[in-house]
Amino acid sequence: MRFTNVRHRRSLCSALASELTHYRLAAGVPRPPLRIWPDALTAAEEVALVEQADTWFSGRPYEPGHFDGVATAYREMQRPARRFSRTNRAVIERLAQATLGDKSLMPIHLLDLDAAGEIGRHVDHVEYSGAYIVGLSLLSDTVMLLHHEHSESTIEMLLPRRSAYVLTAETRYEWAHSIPARPTFDGRTVEKTRRLSILLRDHAAPTGEGPD
Ligand code: OGA
Ligand code: MN
Repeated sequence: MRFTNVRHRRSLCSALASELTHYRLAAGVPRPPLRIWPDALTAAEEVALVEQADTWFSGRPYEPGHFDGVATAYREMQRPARRFSRTNRAVIERLAQATLGDKSLMPIHLLDLDAAGEIGRHVDHVEYSGAYIVGLSLLSDTVMLLHHEHSESTIEMLLPRRSAYVLTAETRYEWAHSIPARPTFDGRTVEKTRRLSILLRDHAAPTGEGPD
């Protein structure tokens, strides 16, 4: 059989990160390190972040397509951390500290996907973002798919509402990622509504000093 290492999770709401992933790895492709934190922020913190984003997005329609030719039914913006309320900034700084340590943050990327929205397969541009992508999922559970760049291996990442994930090293550079409009996890439908993601990134290395 082409794929091995298929994992099964016991419950959608499991607090165990290992059960939030479902691998289909081609022979010889090692399982990359991957981190998902369920409950990375509280319901009250989610409300405050969404309120702030809604103020900024107010009156802006969802774009039918395409950002880098990749996303549909989305709207997005970037805001430096200092533009957030003191409470929201504290949440962002706590998560940044836990994931990026003292690396300096790029402006925070807010990506609002309508219920029907999706993000096609891509690797974030190496000149515009650094070695880490930290994503917070607000308002909806969703599934992120990782696609190995050099085989047909895929990883399903179940991203529960209020969870955070980190893509770095192999999962940043050797795997592309996508978010399907109608997600399934381990063969089961995952209910996806409007999803707001808050993306924390470190700065790209100066040209010539990036990864090989
Ligand atoms: C992106 C992206 C993922 C997410 O904006 O490049 O892949 O979790 N976003 O929203
Ligand atoms: Mn991306």
